[in-house]
Amino acid sequence: MCGIVGYVGHRPVQDLLLAGLEKLEYRGYDSAGISLVCDGVVESVRAVGNLSALREAVEARTNGGGGVAVAASTATTGIGHTRWATHGRVSEENAHPHFDTTSNVHIVLNGIVENFLALREQLAADGVRFTSETDAEVVAHLVGKHYDGENLTEAVCRAYNELEGHYSFVALAGDEPDRVVGARKECPLIVGRGDGESFLASAIPAFLAHTRRVQYVNDNEIVTIHRGGVEFQTADGVPLEREIVEIDWDAETAEKGGYETFMLKEIHEQADALAETIFDRTVREDGVDIDEMGEIGDDVLRAVKRVVVVACGTSYHAGLVGRYAIEEWARLPVEMDIASEYRYRNPVVGPGDLVVGITQSGETADTLAAMRLARERGAHVLAVSNVMGSQATRDAHGTLFTRAGLEIGVAATKTFVCQVAAMYLLGLRLAELRGTLPAERRRELVTGLKHLPHNVDELIAAVDAPIAQIAEDWHRSEFFLYLGRHVGLPVALEGALKLKEISYIACDAYAAGEMKHGPIALLDDATPVVCVATDSPVLEKVVSNMQEVRARGAHVIAVATAGNRDIAQHAERVIEIPHTDWMLQPMLAVIPLQLLAYRIARRLELNVDQPRNLAKTVTVE
Ligand code: AGP
Repeated sequence: MCGIVGYVGHRPVQDLLLAGLEKLEYRGYDSAGISLVCDGVVESVRAVGNLSALREAVEARTNGGGGVAVAASTATTGIGHTRWATHGRVSEENAHPHFDTTSNVHIVLNGIVENFLALREQLAADGVRFTSETDAEVVAHLVGKHYDGENLTEAVCRAYNELEGHYSFVALAGDEPDRVVGARKECPLIVGRGDGESFLASAIPAFLAHTRRVQYVNDNEIVTIHRGGVEFQTADGVPLEREIVEIDWDAETAEKGGYETFMLKEIHEQADALAETIFDRTVREDGVDIDEMGEIGDDVLRAVKRVVVVACGTSYHAGLVGRYAIEEWARLPVEMDIASEYRYRNPVVGPGDLVVGITQSGETADTLAAMRLARERGAHVLAVSNVMGSQATRDAHGTLFTRAGLEIGVAATKTFVCQVAAMYLLGLRLAELRGTLPAERRRELVTGLKHLPHNVDELIAAVDAPIAQIAEDWHRSEFFLYLGRHVGLPVALEGALKLKEISYIACDAYAAGEMKHGPIALLDDATPVVCVATDSPVLEKVVSNMQEVRARGAHVIAVATAGNRDIAQHAERVIEIPHTDWMLQPMLAVIPLQLLAYRIARRLELNVDQPRNLAKTVTVE
């Protein structure tokens, strides 16, 4: 996730951009940059590190830059970017803004251009020399190629029509000093309207200090901001009307993007987070490519004899889902352990093992210790992490990054679905290298993965209100039981963990088939039992367990696949998730359970972002 901002107006833009980027830093923080139109010439400053590094670079230029510095300090049109690397390592060359060969057109981009390799080859054949490894630079050259020096909007439309993927970008050109043009395809872009000035940004907080009047840019739209106003159009040039909405957020709400809590904001960010994690790795139709796993290349993966997953809490649950995928698709044995147990049980591990340490923070003490132990004993160690530069990424031979963006709520939500996605990518890659999964099945799974962000958006919009009603009806319960089978089991475990963490209600989660070996004794007519009953080869078995629950007078709340009418006969409440490949369902089925825990905790008026006794990152044993 990156943050982008643009401005056209009458005020010096340099400080406005830096202040706006500061509000977007949560979206990415490995490098940043700005470009300003100064007397018809575009000047750019980029720096590796967080925003203070960019501020220092800007100050250094102001103090030593002579005429350039003077022009920059009075410039009133500009764009800026804070980066969370996806294509290309963290370096000044890869930092945004990117520019065309004449350095006249500059752009900043958030998201992923899926067909960038093909476009890069075409542009290189036309003589373009690239200065970075990014997909964003392709967009700069493409806009530059279509730009006639007079109509930047037209050039952006023509470039947009050649791009595939999931992105938004903002462009400016030295030849049109009072104009900034944005394009949106499935990544956020919002206009802020001031008096004689306009803003474009990935999120409202970037300009909220200056205006509360906003216009939302929809998918497949091009927007041009200039001193005189704002124009919306389709990529084919058809003008569009757009209402101005007044935002009444206070500073705290603004920080949460308008949501009442960080946790709710992060639940709603899951489609974006998944798209960022999946898209550039699923460009091929029948397989996945994970290019950036350091020393864990294809030859290492081919030689793996066993996979061992170590993790804690939610990350452990993501590992459990990954186990089903790797065993099913790659036919490799997978051993799972809680990191705090693994590190003290003198494990048999060594060459031939791929040890995967899953940790969103990359700093969990027990997971780090388990990974180090495995490395000392000769295993290859892969980190699955959300934080660049974290200890896990430094200790491992390679890292498979989730790209969920900063997660502030203590209860993990978007990082869980991205960890599951990362494990699925790993499973598919191993399966392809080992020849254990036919191309047709790989194609089905890749197609399903790519569609998931749309499924997530659809799901959240549909289920939030019914879940709030279920929470209303059941929030006084003293105990909940969660049941699931196969990939539904880790979903049940994760749903129960969410409820424990933020509502403090006692609950247990069990393999549904194990219920009659003990937990069934807990059931009475006051017990709500949450059953993950999505379509799968084991659904019939889950349904029998639901019948057993009801026979004891307890109440079933089922998470089921849309269209399966039978489930309603065995449950008091049914929450439907969109249809997807059954192996991919955990990434959808967990979302109603996050929301259920959330709505119950809110109903109990608890602090969901900072639950008692918990810390976001556990750096002690
Ligand atoms: C999740 O909601 C919890 N906050 C917790 O279980 C967490 O997943 C665990 O501490 C592991 O953290 P990590 O992913 O940063 O290693």
